[in-house]
Amino acid sequence: MQTTSHLQGQQLIERFQALDHFLTQHQQLWRPRPFTQLRLDWEAQHPELATWLRNRTLEQAEDAQQHLEQLPAPAPFPQLAAQALQLSAVGELPDAGLHPAGHRLDVNVPGRKWQQIEAFTRRLAFSQPPRHWLDWCSGKGHLGRRLLQPGQHLTCLEYDGELVAAGQALSDHHHLPARHLRQDVLAADSARHLDQDKSAVALHACGDLHVRLLQLASQQGCRQVAIAPCCYNRIQGNSYQPLSTAAQQSSLHLSAADLGLPLSEAVTSSARVRRQRDASMARRLGFDLLQRAQRGTDDYLSAPSLAISWLEKPFEQYCRDLAELRQVPLLGEPDWAALEAAGWQRLAVVRNLELVRNLFRRPLEIWLVLDRALYLEEQGYAVNVGLFCDYPLTPRNLLVLGERDG
Ligand SMILES: C[S@@+](CC[C@H](N)C(=O)[O-])C[C@H]1O[C@@H](n2cnc3c(N)ncnc32)[C@H](O)[C@@H]1O
Repeated sequence: MQTTSHLQGQQLIERFQALDHFLTQHQQLWRPRPFTQLRLDWEAQHPELATWLRNRTLEQAEDAQQHLEQLPAPAPFPQLAAQALQLSAVGELPDAGLHPAGHRLDVNVPGRKWQQIEAFTRRLAFSQPPRHWLDWCSGKGHLGRRLLQPGQHLTCLEYDGELVAAGQALSDHHHLPARHLRQDVLAADSARHLDQDKSAVALHACGDLHVRLLQLASQQGCRQVAIAPCCYNRIQGNSYQPLSTAAQQSSLHLSAADLGLPLSEAVTSSARVRRQRDASMARRLGFDLLQRAQRGTDDYLSAPSLAISWLEKPFEQYCRDLAELRQVPLLGEPDWAALEAAGWQRLAVVRNLELVRNLFRRPLEIWLVLDRALYLEEQGYAVNVGLFCDYPLTPRNLLVLGERDG
């Protein structure tokens, strides 16, 4: 089996440029959302592919998800899938080994979270031993405590007061040299916690939160930085602000909605949650057909997120309540059963057309991660990018490691 290596040095910019070209060239395939549009512009250019996808079932779309490169779809799907796979290939970071965990440190940490923490910890192969860990958006600080070794210190920053108190109590209980501080990391005064002595880590700090760490850590001269990004779309403002020169020079301009694409898979949800999600979406799509007919427009009308109890209402009541919420007057006597069935039918079409979009999820995620890596490199860090765990443990399994010289 061919082993894929993690990315470093020249590979970072080369891969970024290749991804940038791929994503820019095929924007018309991944930007439009089948959920909000009845027809996509690309369908006219690839009628055979569009018809093939439109004729498939919801189950078939679900089954195809895990191995898009094996779907026997008409061109250009297989070609794009092969390219996407190649451009998304990133290997594991070297395993630096795992020092033994302190006694009962994992008590009350959910199993999956603890496995993520240990996987993250064992990838931190720095050339100089860290002296003081800074756990950024730490929650209760489980990651920081797991990293801490004799002779080292730990500072945890978190803005939820209850988590800060619970984290400090845990660290005190284990007699660890840790300070848990209540801090909004986006506030102007958060820079005071970063300096040359610190090795900053962030496991799944959302969008702006980990970007802020990259900016402050490099500005304040932190010796080491390790981030596993998530929720790229949690940003202030409506559009993505590229960090690296390469991304700033790219013609790819990303909206907050575009940034949601890498997050849209559901590998970790249970069958029950998936069923609920399907039912909710089929209803929304059925309502969408109704509102288009009633308003006499071909535009999607966004609907707020609705309590799960809405799924228990009869479909007619669901539509009437949602119409009232969105102030859409309902005239005549719609055929509710036909609309409900059409919603499910559209869901199958949407999910199958989305398979084209999904080809670009991982390429877009790696583009975003490499933007962070290239930024750190520009700030004087030696950078490595790779996987820290398998995809099923968390789909946000990419880790950026930066270390300053000397
Ligand atoms: C997804 S959790 C990750 C927590 C921890 N790193 C882990 O992996 O378990 C993100 C954490 O960021 C915290 N947070 C969100 N916004 C913040 C802010 N502006 N300043 C500090 N912490 C914040 C949340 O309270 C939450 O504990």
